[in-house]
Amino acid sequence: MQTATISFDRFNNLADNDAQERIRAARARLGKRAVILCHHYQRADVFRHADLTGDSLKLSRLASQSDADFIVFCGVHFMAEVADILSRPEQISILPDLAAGCSMADMASRAKVERAWRELSTVLNPDQQITPVTYINSAADLKAFCGEHGGIVCTSSNAPKILDWSFKQRPKVLFFPDQHLGRWSGHKMGIPLDEMAIWNPDLEMGGLTAEQISKAKIILWHGFCSVHQMFQTERIARFREQYPEGRVVSHPECSFEVCQASDVVGSTEKIITTVKESAAGTRWLVGTELNLVDRLAEEVKPEGKIVQFMGGVICMCSTMQRIDPQHLAWTLENLAEGNVVNRIVVPAHEAAPAKVALERMLAAS
Ligand code: 13P
Ligand code: SF4
Repeated sequence: MQTATISFDRFNNLADNDAQERIRAARARLGKRAVILCHHYQRADVFRHADLTGDSLKLSRLASQSDADFIVFCGVHFMAEVADILSRPEQISILPDLAAGCSMADMASRAKVERAWRELSTVLNPDQQITPVTYINSAADLKAFCGEHGGIVCTSSNAPKILDWSFKQRPKVLFFPDQHLGRWSGHKMGIPLDEMAIWNPDLEMGGLTAEQISKAKIILWHGFCSVHQMFQTERIARFREQYPEGRVVSHPECSFEVCQASDVVGSTEKIITTVKESAAGTRWLVGTELNLVDRLAEEVKPEGKIVQFMGGVICMCSTMQRIDPQHLAWTLENLAEGNVVNRIVVPAHEAAPAKVALERMLAAS
């Protein structure tokens, strides 16, 4: 039975303990009708309520397999969009705070990518010579662009595999929005750095000459993650000096230099399993978001493993952080009362081609 929507004003100043209590009570009322998916960067006071956790690839698979009526996504906007696209039409995807975006995803818009495609067509035939590849950290309309132009989606855990698929279709790749993931993945495939050109969307022809475009195997969009951009090789050098037996693991959104200086580079899920599966007593320096690192450090402490954070300053995904216990309590109580708040709906004309690009990725990875 539906009642009037409960306003967030009543939750805004709710004490943390009360919010926790109300989340538990609302969940008990909802039972299996709601599933809570949490990304590994989610803050601890929300993460503890997760039914399922993972990196972007794992979460997109889990969303597509869920039976729940409501998929409550404690992550960022593009993740809830993917859940909406891959779930059944009657399922409802919800983002507890609509302000939880991804600043990297915002660095590429459909208008700018379409302009790049048009400008590239003055040098070559993009629809025959370039596979567009979008990182899953992008808006649904860019995934749709890829679906419409023979392209595909990738995540941090399958990017080299997806590039391999892409080069089987066409000789070049336009990779957006994360230049670092694109460069690192291209490098892992053996593509020389001078065959990867940077496309600056604020400049005419991306700031490239026709010759540079013709030479490039991968055209990298000038986007980045402001959290992972903070990590520096100096911290790795100091760590190795202090602890020569120590190991370093980083996310591929870090700079090329940080990835090169690391022992292992991988998605959030890969970072966690690498540290968990290492020998007891191992010491790790970890280059990814702080909530994940703090949680991991606590989890492996009993085995005598030491996990250190790579950042010199606090590096949190401030947008994902906006999903707090107050917003989760508000969302769940409304659902329990029969009111859907903060539903994420991708319009059908975008969802269909975006699904094509996502399904190509799921099949190829
Ligand atoms: P993962 O897919 O590795 O979890 O990465 C998502 C992300 O946004 C990292 O910044
Ligand atoms: Fe986006 Fe960076 Fe946050 Fe990941 S950590 S969701 S890339 S802003």
